[in-house]
Amino acid sequence: MDTPITGFVRAGSLEELKAKGRLVVHGPHRPILVVHDKGRVFALDNRCPHMGFPLDRGSVEDGTLTCHWHHARFDLASGCTFDLWADDVPTCPAEVRDGEVWVRPVFCHADPAAHWRQRLDDGLAHVLGLVIAKAVHGQLAAGVPPPDVVRQVALFGIQNRDGWGDGLTILTALGNLLPVLPEEETYLALFQGARRVAADCDGQAPRRQRVALASRPDLATLKRWLRRWTAVRHREAAERTLLTAVATGASPAALADLLLAADTDRAFADGGHSLDFTNKAFECLDLIGWEHANAALPTVVGQMVAARGAEESTAWRQPIDLIALCTEAAAELPDLFAARPNMHGWSDHAALARALLGDHPVAIMDALKAAIRAGAIASDLGRSLAYAAALRLARFGTANEHADWETAHHVFTYANAIHQMLKRIGTADRDGHIEAVHGVLHGAMALYLARYLNVPPARIPGEGSEPLDDLPANAEEIRVALLDVFDRQRQVDLAARLVARHLTLGHSVQSLIAILARALLREDAGFHAYQVLDAGVRQFGEWGNTDEGRHILIAVVRFLAAHSPTERAELQTADIAQRLMRGGELHQDTTA
Ligand code: FES
Repeated sequence: MDTPITGFVRAGSLEELKAKGRLVVHGPHRPILVVHDKGRVFALDNRCPHMGFPLDRGSVEDGTLTCHWHHARFDLASGCTFDLWADDVPTCPAEVRDGEVWVRPVFCHADPAAHWRQRLDDGLAHVLGLVIAKAVHGQLAAGVPPPDVVRQVALFGIQNRDGWGDGLTILTALGNLLPVLPEEETYLALFQGARRVAADCDGQAPRRQRVALASRPDLATLKRWLRRWTAVRHREAAERTLLTAVATGASPAALADLLLAADTDRAFADGGHSLDFTNKAFECLDLIGWEHANAALPTVVGQMVAARGAEESTAWRQPIDLIALCTEAAAELPDLFAARPNMHGWSDHAALARALLGDHPVAIMDALKAAIRAGAIASDLGRSLAYAAALRLARFGTANEHADWETAHHVFTYANAIHQMLKRIGTADRDGHIEAVHGVLHGAMALYLARYLNVPPARIPGEGSEPLDDLPANAEEIRVALLDVFDRQRQVDLAARLVARHLTLGHSVQSLIAILARALLREDAGFHAYQVLDAGVRQFGEWGNTDEGRHILIAVVRFLAAHSPTERAELQTADIAQRLMRGGELHQDTTA
């Protein structure tokens, strides 16, 4: 008898089910496993939620089902797993009527967005890559805006780790890139960001929130105090001071000025990471909302007060005392900015960048001072520094040790961070950004110290008369060739030539950035690679498709190509999750 019950499909007779113990129902829906156990009938997705192995090949015992591939165990009644790494198996309604078994092949949740939000929290808490991937996919499929996922993950990371970390940096970098990513890359970006935040929090003590002072001193006092507490490495005092500044309702620009003043009291602290993390915390708040400032900003204080400054490093002291040079130049800044012509539109960024790449630190300092006298504002200096640092990467000689890429990277991402912070601070308060400019002086000296990385300099494709017409001209063919390059090691120069080709032919910049993001997101990339792409896209935005903009993206692709390919294990997890979520079969079901 095949009398349809609305929405149900017939699985078979109860007699047959009892005899066989299990049946598999195929159709336009996902395969459904129907199990008879101790007088009850259960219906479950037949694909193991772990990696899709057919569950009808598993064992049923005492109300539980065991998958025979990696031996994950599930409660038959609810589908809940006893092994968290495998995830829960979806169930659907089953009924017995007149000796016939019927199932309703519907696996959706009453509130899918809420369900997948909870699952993302579960995946983050237990560092379950597959659960994270499915939850991200589920939220996007339920129409949750990608920035909401970023916010959920960011708040998890802020609360479950005692300080800012690589994971939050990666998440923020990817959050910044979301507007230029196509749908497929959005899923991968959120997954990669979330799994790195989860990994960062694994085994860490949760954050203990401090509170603001009961008084509300003015910002000048709070800045003075924050610098003092940073100098003596008094974390609690520094956090309470910062929280008090937040509680006064200080603007993001004022908070940036406050933190940058303290951060730059040590030169190039922690190889630039301290300032870079501070900038990323600000960018994170731009993404998740400034109402979370009192939770997010204190996360950078621990590293800031503990950081080692370059003044403790021999290379910064001998044979030339670069710290003394910075101190002398810093002392001149108030007068230089006071005398700066009150003009807008200083535009010699590229020329200043070339001067910053010089071999003489005194001349480098002189170039910065001359730029201020000629009308450059603080963020102009930051922009030139960032472009110069990008050129270090673009011209990185491959005869260097591979680890030296990181030296060049540190200067570039630091330079981008100081540029972004100076832009945020702005020029409204002409006294307020003087200390922050110390960061430019330090960055210029870090750039100087990395000059050996360009000896000999790599050629920048497209420079001079170097032809590129041996490469494809069609945009799609160039992008395919670029992805192919990332499948092989040591293809730094070819990758750079393809990017130069794409840009000089005037093809879509957004498509090129999307393909660079794709190339990054499919790798098990280190956090430096995410920083470079994020910083490169930001800096390209300053210049557009000009020679300078092209150099910046060439710098990015050279760095990425130097670190590819990896094992791509995380991509495999993301792919499995996606196929499971879309209802596809990952394994041939021989019982079909
Ligand atoms: S436990 Fe079922 S596929 Fe791994």
